[in-house]
Amino acid sequence: MAIQNVMVIGAGQMGSGIAQVCAQAGFNVKLNDMKKEAYERGIAGITKNLSRNVEKGRMTEEEKTEALNRITSSLDLQDAHDVDLVIEAAVENMEVKHSIFKTLDEVAPKHAILATNTSSLPITEIAAATNRPAQVIGMHFMNPVPVMKLVEIIRGLATTDEVYKAVEDMTVKLSKTPVEVEDFPGFVANRILMPMINEAIFTLQEGVASKEDIDEVMKLGMNHPMGPLQLADFIGLDTCLYIMEILHDGFGDSKYRPSPLLRKYVKAGWLGKKTGRGFYEYS
Ligand code: CAA
Ligand code: NAD
Repeated sequence: MAIQNVMVIGAGQMGSGIAQVCAQAGFNVKLNDMKKEAYERGIAGITKNLSRNVEKGRMTEEEKTEALNRITSSLDLQDAHDVDLVIEAAVENMEVKHSIFKTLDEVAPKHAILATNTSSLPITEIAAATNRPAQVIGMHFMNPVPVMKLVEIIRGLATTDEVYKAVEDMTVKLSKTPVEVEDFPGFVANRILMPMINEAIFTLQEGVASKEDIDEVMKLGMNHPMGPLQLADFIGLDTCLYIMEILHDGFGDSKYRPSPLLRKYVKAGWLGKKTGRGFYEYS
């Protein structure tokens, strides 16, 4: 199963990072978004990251230009007609993902693998929107994609070994480390990370300490690179809430109930770094 042509859906913080690492590794990438401005923001971020790599001597100006030339813009899912692999990184919402996967199944070549970067939604349920569940798989990158080494690879109930192997090989070509995970709510990364973030928000809600001090405790006390509230802002509070809801619904255990303060912030549109305000303010 040779992969050369890739489509990445969603040019937000994850999709643009995925497109960047694919282009750097020599794959041709169609970067798709429903909004032209999102594509433009995404490609501007990629250009900035690659320029930094040139400044730091990690790549030449020529390699940067070649990588950028491998990325083309797409505003229409019909452009998936000639790709070998799709990596979907649109919003964390089952209805949106179902609609995207249904269209992709109609448009993409028969051999194409349809992967999703979902943080927590069941792969098997996403696959059920298609007539090719054997070729649907989770490919969960971590944020920021160009820096973080891990990719969780999640099999749906029907995913074949051949498809798993093709995605595992691709992950290694992207200089990432694959870890095989079964299709359970939150997989491994978010089942462990998100309850910690949610607990930090409860700690803030109950007035146990200020936001700065909660983050300081986890940074200095546990050597985490970011405090949990700063990390929640970085991930996106909407994404954090979706993930907690998936854990809560999936396990039916009250230990996963999302903090009311998290819900309040999301309702206010304070989604973190991407909207300029979350627990902290960003200029
Ligand atoms: N895109 C590309 N590169 C980035 C970046 C971004 N968004 N943010 C930082 N970098 C690069 C910087 O350019 C810098 O590179 P150089 O080697 O060229 O200097 C390097 O990363 C280090 O950055 P900084 O010195 O600015 O800051 P830092 O040392 O604090 O590192 C960080 C930044 C890597 C983001 C670090 O704070 C960190 O590891 N934070 C935790 C990240 C984390 O936990 N990610 C997982 C989130 S959960 C998830 O992704 C799963 C999910 O489903 C929600
Ligand atoms: P984001 O909000 O930064 O970007 C999402 C992008 O998808 C936006 O540009 C939006 O215009 C686009 N989009 C929405 N619907 C679309 C559609 N139907 N067709 C094409 N484009 C569409 O979100 P993000 O943080 O990049 O997250 C994307 C996915 O990656 C989510 O499933 C999320 O759970 C997952 N994820 C997020 C993180 C994180 O730390 N933020 C980490 C790992 C995985």
